[in-house]
Amino acid sequence: MLDIQKIRADFPILSEKVNGKPLVYFDNGATSQKPQVVIDAIAKYYQEINANIHRGVHTLSQLATDAYEISRVKIQHHINAKFSHEVLFTSGTTHGINLVTNGFASILKPGDEVIVSSLEHHSNIVPWQMLCEKTGATLKVIPMNEEGELIIEAYDALLSEKTKVVTVNHISNALGIINPIKYMIEKAHAVGAAVLIDGAQAVPHLKPDVQDLDCDFYAFSGHKMCGPTGTGILYGKEEWLNKLPPYQGGGEMIKEVTFEKTTYADLPHKFEAGTPNIAGGIVLGTAVDYLNHIGFHNIHQHETHLLQHATKRLLEIEGLKIYGTGNKASVVSFNIDGIHPYDIGSIIDKLGIAVRTGHHCAQPIMNFFCIPGTIRASFSFYNTKEEIDIMVEAIKKAKAMLS
Ligand code: ALA
Repeated sequence: MLDIQKIRADFPILSEKVNGKPLVYFDNGATSQKPQVVIDAIAKYYQEINANIHRGVHTLSQLATDAYEISRVKIQHHINAKFSHEVLFTSGTTHGINLVTNGFASILKPGDEVIVSSLEHHSNIVPWQMLCEKTGATLKVIPMNEEGELIIEAYDALLSEKTKVVTVNHISNALGIINPIKYMIEKAHAVGAAVLIDGAQAVPHLKPDVQDLDCDFYAFSGHKMCGPTGTGILYGKEEWLNKLPPYQGGGEMIKEVTFEKTTYADLPHKFEAGTPNIAGGIVLGTAVDYLNHIGFHNIHQHETHLLQHATKRLLEIEGLKIYGTGNKASVVSFNIDGIHPYDIGSIIDKLGIAVRTGHHCAQPIMNFFCIPGTIRASFSFYNTKEEIDIMVEAIKKAKAMLS
């Protein structure tokens, strides 16, 4: 069992007051809080080894380069990638997805099909729509059911030799539903399609094994897994990364430049033009170490208890409906009959409770349920049942005020 109070002491912000009340932070789906080791590591980088990487002959540049590349290898092992050059540093999931859609612009032809799921965040819908507009390919959508799960038989029926790419999130940000991605990847590969997994909401809760999943791309953000904002990873299979053209042109991504012709650097540098977020990349490795030290098995156990407790306590409230009731991570998305989610969110904020309200950048899901949005409480391993009780009491109070 985790010693939650000891873990909470690692996160300075968790002992802050917001609006005069102890902070109850349930907006982990938007971004996680950062432990002191991560905060310290950012300062340490700038205090001790700040220099540009892969460029300098001098000692600091070498130290910074080593720290950056050690972090890449750490992340390679964390996700079980075969090679460290399959691990690209990005600014976040959105960057990773756009890098891939940009690459497919030179591969897709009119008549080809791209399959997305109806559970996607806008960042895994819009880049594919833009790609289809550019190439003449067609976007197909896997429908969902009332439980918030993808209808897998409908997915099977959408797949054909026209399918060139399938893209789906590992865990839905709006509902917390865990998708059967291993099955979906296998089926997509059977028709020769590539698969991108949006792992943004999965990586705080589990350790993805990209070789076991056999996905072609897996994109995630650092800031949702205790790392700094502006950091992320795109995993890509070597063969795909070699096939795709570079995303951005610039320094460090070239072998040789003349005005007649430029040749590109080997992986991973071909996709890492410009000076990256060096401190962020290094410190993402620190965050990964921190999470592994806590242990994903322990995280899963604790978060399962939180989810069960929150579901039970919230359903005590009359008129409260939870959206997404299938197999899911520690996320509860809900509404109360006749009350706008924003009103509940604003009132409980005054009581120090942070939740997200609105469409969660997943408007198609809200359209499916015919609602403007939901209140989303997304839990992390540092949250407690007592905090959930505080939220439930606050919601009861808000409901009484608004009814
Ligand atoms: N994608 C993040 C969320 O779901 C910002 O809140």
